[in-house]
Amino acid sequence: MAYYRTPHDVTTLPAWQALTDHRKAMQNFSMRDAFNEDPQRFNDFTLSSAGLFLDYSKNLINAETRQLLVNLANEVGLKDAIKAQYDGEPVNSSENRPALHTALRRPVGDKLLVNGTNVMPEVHKVLNQITDLVGRIHDGLWRGYTEKPITDVVNIGIGGSFLGPELVSEALLSYGQKGVRCHYLANIDGTELHELTAKLRAETTLFIVSSKTFSTLETLKNATAARAWYLAQGGSEAELYRHFIAVSSNNAAAVAFGIREENIFPMWDWVGGRYSLWSAIGLPIALAIGMSNFKELLSGAYTMDQHFLNADFEKNMPVLLGLLGVWYGNFWGAQSHAILPYDHYLRNITKHLQQLDMESNGKSVRQDGVPVKTDTGPVIWGGVGCNGQHAYHQLLHQGTQLIPADFIVPIVSFNPVSDHHQWLYANCLSQSQALMLGKTREEAEAELRAKGMPEDEVQRVAPHKVIPGNRPSNTIVCERISPRRLGALVAMYEHKVFVQSVIWGTNAFDQWGVELGKELGKGVYSRLVGTEETPAEDASTQGLINYFRGRHRG
Ligand code: F6P
Repeated sequence: MAYYRTPHDVTTLPAWQALTDHRKAMQNFSMRDAFNEDPQRFNDFTLSSAGLFLDYSKNLINAETRQLLVNLANEVGLKDAIKAQYDGEPVNSSENRPALHTALRRPVGDKLLVNGTNVMPEVHKVLNQITDLVGRIHDGLWRGYTEKPITDVVNIGIGGSFLGPELVSEALLSYGQKGVRCHYLANIDGTELHELTAKLRAETTLFIVSSKTFSTLETLKNATAARAWYLAQGGSEAELYRHFIAVSSNNAAAVAFGIREENIFPMWDWVGGRYSLWSAIGLPIALAIGMSNFKELLSGAYTMDQHFLNADFEKNMPVLLGLLGVWYGNFWGAQSHAILPYDHYLRNITKHLQQLDMESNGKSVRQDGVPVKTDTGPVIWGGVGCNGQHAYHQLLHQGTQLIPADFIVPIVSFNPVSDHHQWLYANCLSQSQALMLGKTREEAEAELRAKGMPEDEVQRVAPHKVIPGNRPSNTIVCERISPRRLGALVAMYEHKVFVQSVIWGTNAFDQWGVELGKELGKGVYSRLVGTEETPAEDASTQGLINYFRGRHRG
């Protein structure tokens, strides 16, 4: 039976028991000592693929650890699972769907059957549709209602219909084409719409309503408000088609909104929202950077896909990163994982990886509906360096929690200023080094004595300067943040998340947990606006409704 129908109870597997025993043996493992004892450690725990260089030598592992983790991957049937996903089996078992974001970056000529139909021609037909639209807009052949070319594109979408495109179009600003500016309207908070439209002219703005379901409240409300703004600015209903297009798998709803059929770019139910930037959801990316760069992005992801499919697990980036996350989460009690990009253009990667990881692995039942016996997805957090060093790195260095971190840094800056990039790179490396080395009590005392501090002061201050160290991190380096490298980087994390879901036996591709809040929101809304007078289910919610409606007793 396929892994996604009857997953293992991973805690019963021999490799899991072996890792449990190994964890005890690693209790006093010291990275400092490991580096001192093994001059080959860096070479043994680094690897390159798809233009990325991964240094995972600053981890609480040795060769035996890696082997035991690979054994676990083998015992859960990871190899078969990877192939099953890539070949379009219904790995999303609760919705009985494939998860085929990898199909979106496969080359012309590949064949991939979904329910008996080769989907690749349709995938490439949409890619051609995107190419056509981008060309027409870039060449000024697409005109607004005053016959002016489009200068601004507004993506109206949320979650996966926003975060991936925002990450990539902002990260690749240096590849911007034809001065088309991309904007993102996601939240229902009117301030976002207000601030955005204040800098736009309706006559030169194209709205892309991006919604796989075309039923997401925030997106539909914003699309309606954008249409009202367009009309108030002088646009007409008759010319609306020049300023509103859609990306959706729900054609009927998009047409009902007023989008012309020929301006609806299809999505498929076998592409999850948080995995969809490679599809027509990536339209804002293509409009920002041009089609050749968009295809470079796809090609970088494809290269990573091939690495993931074919590399031995010991030399497989997404597999090793996934296994390291299992090692810390399930055997060292880590509850979160920090993503620390040392690059301004990558500042939005943490937000995208939060949805990718936490909406995929924030699960507590296995694919067969049985509650998990292990912890599953970590909290993903972080932000751009060096800023984090002046915000939360204190906790990373001297807090009480083990928080593994991924540092991501390019060798080359697009905007060199004096020696700034050297300092940025030096800070990235030194933070990872400090996490590993720490500072012993002896070192702290010696440092204070060397400054001439009296001994009683040394004894008073020293404990506060001790840094535990021995805290793990990975460092991912690439030559520069290019479309190809970024495609590989994002695909690497998509596969890492999948690896972990297979080990835990969970479904990385559904998100039933978001439904309840949406449902309850309708009841709260109706009580806020007075169309429903029955009390809310609980006193807190009702009390807060009363407060809003000015009926609070102050
Ligand atoms: O957060 C729930 C979710 O369904 C995400 O998975 C998705 O990316 C987002 O809402 C937007 O969904 P849609 O693209 O259907 O508007």
